[in-house]
Amino acid sequence: MDISKKIMKKLKREYYNIYNEFYEVNKYRKMKNILHHGIARIEHINRVGKLTFYTSKLLKLDYISSTRGALMHDFFIKEDLSKKEALKHHPQIALKNSKKYFTVNKIEEDIITKHMFPITKQKPKYKESILVCICDKLVSCYEFIRFKINIQANLIMMFIINTLYS
Ligand SMILES: [Fe+2]
Ligand SMILES: [Fe+2]
Repeated sequence: MDISKKIMKKLKREYYNIYNEFYEVNKYRKMKNILHHGIARIEHINRVGKLTFYTSKLLKLDYISSTRGALMHDFFIKEDLSKKEALKHHPQIALKNSKKYFTVNKIEEDIITKHMFPITKQKPKYKESILVCICDKLVSCYEFIRFKINIQANLIMMFIINTLYS
């Protein structure tokens, strides 16, 4: 196995060691059944977590806190709050849930509560919080566009099938 593959394997193992603490919790796993940008919320969180992990390592930040914060940033389920309240209030609910099941340090708390900036007014205080805020937006845009393209592709397919068989 060449050196780059070995490094990637080691990094992946390190990331999933952090992730597994969260995945062991029942309520956290319930996010597998909740839609978020057209995919499961847990998938979105995992994607933000991975991007944060690799970029914070590259930038020599506190990658453990930034990754943990990313993995808790959208930790809420349907029963926690209504759809109407979700946009502005979910960071506070995610913090409440995270504190109930995990230990949360100051950087992680800042990441969770301020990841929706500028929709929520409080500015991220740490470099790690700014990074998660950016990673979340990049991932959300990617997922949203991918979801829209899927819908468009399905509509085009339906149109072609309808035209051919009508
Ligand atoms: Fe969020
Ligand atoms: Fe998010």
